[in-house]
Amino acid sequence: MKKTNKKILEEIIRVDHAGERGAIKIYEGQLLALKTFKQDENLKKQIEEMKEHEKEHYEFFDQEIKKRNIKPTKLLPLWDLLGVGLGFGTAMLGKKAAMLCTASVEEVIDVHYKSQTYKLEGDEEELKNKIIKFRDDELHHKDIAYESGATKDGLYGLLDKIIKTSSRIAIKVSEKI
Ligand SMILES: [Fe+2]
Ligand SMILES: [Fe+2]
Repeated sequence: MKKTNKKILEEIIRVDHAGERGAIKIYEGQLLALKTFKQDENLKKQIEEMKEHEKEHYEFFDQEIKKRNIKPTKLLPLWDLLGVGLGFGTAMLGKKAAMLCTASVEEVIDVHYKSQTYKLEGDEEELKNKIIKFRDDELHHKDIAYESGATKDGLYGLLDKIIKTSSRIAIKVSEKI
């Protein structure tokens, strides 16, 4: 059976661990805004539901990181801060921006998870299947976001590009450090 490259495997688990945690933090930031300045029961419910999935994703990678003795990224505290900030900021801008935030991030994660599945060999079938399942969940989140008002019109298109570029940088850095 073909074996997965150890370094690549570690990078995959490290970055996904950071990313799923980041997703939880973004939603925490959004919920904070929605519980204080921007009350919206419906939006709050949707976000809480998506956050539950992210928790499941995060817990899986957290177990993997411990089981396999992989170092998490050193930048977790920074991602926590930026995640909450991004979530809070987008929710303060309104429902369209909050939902665009999910759509933008999930579009990056879609490609990211897909590319990972090609790097995992037969010895990591279980991990591969998890990533395929999680990618499905993320695509579902993206659909929810567009159904709930995410848009790339006008200045939202700029916000989309900023969020995507930041997410890609965070991914690159978290694989390595
Ligand atoms: Fe997730
Ligand atoms: Fe998600």
